[in-house]
Amino acid sequence: MSIRLGYFYPNARSVHALSGAIAARNGDIGDLETHVAMARAAEEVGFDYLFMMDAWAPFGPESTAGEVMNPMLLAPILAAAMFSATRRIRFITTIHTSWFHPLQIARIGAALDTLSGGRWGMNVVSGDGFASKIEGAPPNALDHDARYGRAAETVEILTQAWSTGRVDFAGEHFTIRGEITGPGTVQQPRPYLVGAGASSAGIGFSGRYADLVFIPGRTPLADCRRRLDAIRATASAHGRPAGSVAMQMHASVIVRETAAEAEAKSQRLEEAVDLAIVAEYLNSVRGSISTYDDIYAQMGDLEMRKIGAVSGARRLHGDAEQVADEIGDLATTYGCDGIAVTLPVWSPEEIRRFGALLLPALAARGLWSHPRTRGWAW
Ligand SMILES: Cc1cc2nc3c(=O)[nH]c(=O)nc-3n(C[C@H](O)[C@H](O)[C@H](O)COP(=O)(O)O)c2cc1C
Repeated sequence: MSIRLGYFYPNARSVHALSGAIAARNGDIGDLETHVAMARAAEEVGFDYLFMMDAWAPFGPESTAGEVMNPMLLAPILAAAMFSATRRIRFITTIHTSWFHPLQIARIGAALDTLSGGRWGMNVVSGDGFASKIEGAPPNALDHDARYGRAAETVEILTQAWSTGRVDFAGEHFTIRGEITGPGTVQQPRPYLVGAGASSAGIGFSGRYADLVFIPGRTPLADCRRRLDAIRATASAHGRPAGSVAMQMHASVIVRETAAEAEAKSQRLEEAVDLAIVAEYLNSVRGSISTYDDIYAQMGDLEMRKIGAVSGARRLHGDAEQVADEIGDLATTYGCDGIAVTLPVWSPEEIRRFGALLLPALAARGLWSHPRTRGWAW
């Protein structure tokens, strides 16, 4: 048994550290060479997959001015650009099901899966991707649970299209009958599907369709277990083996030779956080319109800096032994089948450092083996 290691890939300059100063130090996301070097380093050290999030509207003007999460490259297009630079590493790209028609996703997904040689998976997001900030954006026509209904029908339609080239479907959101052009997908009857929903509709969706669920890094142990139990019970109720849904937590990782060095790096990261961007981030993810002063009054400087340094991921900052122990605890106590790693400051060197320092410590604990020894299976 080995945990899976995903790399939560930056399709913007600073997806995880809410800081203009950090964004300025990270790579140029508009340069394909940046991504080629990053993808090759991730494949070489032994990440199982690159995960790419996506959003449709910026957090707000501060985040845009700092180039933190805007500009952001559309996840499936970025992944496709990296296929020819890699051979084995897999790609999970976010696609928002209320932004696209299922037949569009069917064709985009089939092309991605085919050209990658079956290395593509889809993070099925029913959420609006901050569409509510854009008047006239398609998801705004549906409420939260209706968007999950649309996502479920989308997966049914995709599975038919990818496995037979024909769709014969009548539901609440779509009535579709006919053939579409191929190719179908290499992975049959469909590519790997990921869900991250937290609501009961989200848990119902993941239990029914997801091969992997992401749990936010801040989720306490009891909630984590409750959610996983509910997802697996739903899977069983739909005739799937309960264990067929794997669970991964996303975690911000800084590993250094010594605990003191890692702590110093983590401190500098917190100091570099822009509180105004944290306020925009919190407003965006909560869908609220609190002012900066409201948020500051609730949380204060320290807590906002802690949030801004990891953006909701679990904080695993330390020397290799400390971080490996914490990952061991996530695997054994929390039941994590893997970790989606965020690197607040990113570069091919940082990926190699992660590989050189942490992976031997995980391997020594019997927690991890290089995906090449596992046939690069999901
Ligand atoms: C690791 C992780 C990655 C996520 N990636 C995205 C993303 O790329 N785009 C997005 O709009 N939402 C993303 N989400 C949000 C979830 O899809 C989901 O909307 C959220 O967890 C709330 O769940 P609910 O809609 O069931 O309440 C992500 C969540 C997690 C934990």
